[in-house]
Amino acid sequence: MTSESVQPKSGPSRRTIVAAAGAAGLTVALTACGSEDKASDSSTEQGGGATNDGGGASTGAGAGGAALAKTSDIPEGSGKIFKDEKVVVSQPTAGDYKAFSTICTHRDCPMVDLKDDIISCTCHGSRFSVLDGSVKKGPAVEPLEAKKISVNGDSITLA
Ligand code: FES
Repeated sequence: MTSESVQPKSGPSRRTIVAAAGAAGLTVALTACGSEDKASDSSTEQGGGATNDGGGASTGAGAGGAALAKTSDIPEGSGKIFKDEKVVVSQPTAGDYKAFSTICTHRDCPMVDLKDDIISCTCHGSRFSVLDGSVKKGPAVEPLEAKKISVNGDSITLA
């Protein structure tokens, strides 16, 4: 008699080490900064038909609900701040008007200090040109956000 013991083949016990990763995957938080207007192309011209009132053409334009300013309010080579709208409107050259946000691009401080063509941030000392929005002094590195305006006659409105 032969006694055979049939042994079922049982594979070597495998140990599976389950590494539980605590941090499952990377979570990429996209923070939308809202600064979409990086286009600095000069396509925001207000048309060449802007008649430059040579002087004395101060008609009493009282009506104009959404008007931000009159063209005569904006000094050439400088600008004017509109605190409520958080906008500075400038006139780099005669009859050419630009507008920029007065919110500092460094840490979002509102700026109200304008001398000549420079708007300054009192938070950390950045300075910007109101003629083109460029940074003149850091720590800010991004230019001011351009705002669209429209000029109709002697009235400037935010577009
Ligand atoms: S927030 Fe304007 S310089 Fe820092």
